[in-house]
This record gives sequence, structure tokens and C-alpha cells, in this order.
Amino acid sequence: MRRRRIHEGKAKVLFEGPQPGTLVQYFKDDATAFNNEKRGIIVGKGVLNNAISEYLMLRLAEIGVPTHFVRRLNMREQLIREVEIIPIEVVVRNVAAGSISKRLGLEEGSPLPRPIVEYYYKKDELGDPMVSEEHITAFGWASNLDLDDMVPLALRVNDFLSGLFLGVGLKLIDFKLEFGRLWEDEEMRIVVADEISPDSCRLWDTKTNEKMDKDRFRRDLGGVEEAYQEVARRLGVLPDSIPAEGGRPTLVK
Ligand code: TMP
Repeated sequence: MRRRRIHEGKAKVLFEGPQPGTLVQYFKDDATAFNNEKRGIIVGKGVLNNAISEYLMLRLAEIGVPTHFVRRLNMREQLIREVEIIPIEVVVRNVAAGSISKRLGLEEGSPLPRPIVEYYYKKDELGDPMVSEEHITAFGWASNLDLDDMVPLALRVNDFLSGLFLGVGLKLIDFKLEFGRLWEDEEMRIVVADEISPDSCRLWDTKTNEKMDKDRFRRDLGGVEEAYQEVARRLGVLPDSIPAEGGRPTLVK
């Protein structure tokens, strides 16, 4: 029986899950950057991001950060709770890099005075523009109450993940979170959704400052697959072999 496809994004596909209120999240090897202008394949990325995101979501649940994650099903799929995605990308930055460096003329790698939270409206046609709380609440994308949950959660995730990555020799420069509304009976809870992976984080090696994330793809730095594998290896979740999408297994070097 073929599963019903609910949504196809740039890096993942969502299928109907086995029980009501669940979905299956499938991780592809496809990579895009600069709002779809640059496209490519990062071989094995889906498998690695599935494993890395599983690990990080489980660790977050342990400290009481609610997430949509239920369990990993296989190399490329995980079972998740169905949530109503809030159309805002929440970015937390510890060190200047990427768009904040460009926008504000800050040298990449310069530490920020404190963690900075930014919001981007999820709208591909517009290239995910940066927005303020005023826009978010005025247009009803999220309420003040939603934001009162989201921002402290994002900062807790930042503190926790910064420490976790530091423990494996990686600096968490910045990352993006998505949140969803989870309905249980009449109650609504805000939970962390989507994925947390080298696609959505900037991670620099603490000793060499080498980029270990999707910037290797965005900026044509080479060693893209190797960087994703190294992040998984340091977190202790690198699989013995990485099956290709829909086909033969490829051996990890
Ligand atoms: P930025 O510097 O390009 O604004 O990116 C900030 C962080 O957010 C970086 O870790 C990458 C992540 N990010 C996404 O996950 N998805 C996106 O669409 C963009 C633009 C950034």
C-alpha cells in the first residue's frame, strides 16, 4: 500500500503516519541554498540528518524541551507527531556569520554581545524575509503567548546545544528552529519541530574553525559529505554504512 504524501519540501517529505496525529518524516539527500537558486545532492545527507536530528531531539526531550519527535523508523525516516507549523523560522546567533555579517557588516567569527534571536517569515516566494514581533503578531502568524513559549525555548535549546556541541569539539555559531502547535484534547502546546542538523546549524571546529555544516555546500568549500559524517561521528551516531536513496548501500569511507 502506498502511503499518502502530505507535503514535499526541499530536504524532506512528510507522509501520513501509521496512527492519527502522526506523520512519517523522510529525509532526502537533496540540498538547496539561497532560496532554491543553488541545488545539489549531498550523498548520504538524509541518513545523517535523520540520525543527528533524532539524537538532538532526544537529548532535548531529556531536559524537558518538548519536540515533535517520536522515534526513528529506519535509515531515512522518523515518526513524528503531527503539528500545525508556525510559519516563522527562529534563528539564534552566538557568533556573527552568514546573513547578519552581511546585513550589519560584522566580521564572520566575531562573537555577539549576547545570543541574538531573529525571526524569518517562511515564504519561499519572498525568500523568507526577516520580520519583527510586530509583524508576527499583527499578521497573526503567532500570538504573543506563542512567542512567550518560543523565545525562552529557543534560548534554552541554544544553551543546551552549545554545551553539547562544545563537548564534541564544535562551536554552535547559529541555528534555526521551527515550532509547531501540538493539540492534545483541548490543550495546545508549542513544540520544537522540523529538524536540527548541519543543514540548520552552523558548526565550527573548536580548534581549527573549520566549517562543519551546510556552508560547505553553500560556498563550494568541498568536503561536504565528510563534514556531515564527522558531525555524526562526533555525536556517536554515524551508521556503519549509508544506504543510497532508493538503492544500493554506499560504504562510509
Ligand atoms: P543565515 O545567516 O543565512 O540567516 O542563517 C542563519 C542560520 O539559520 C544558519 O545556521 C542556517 C540556518 N538557516 C536555515 O536553516 N534555513 C534557511 O533557510 C536559512 C536562510 C538559514
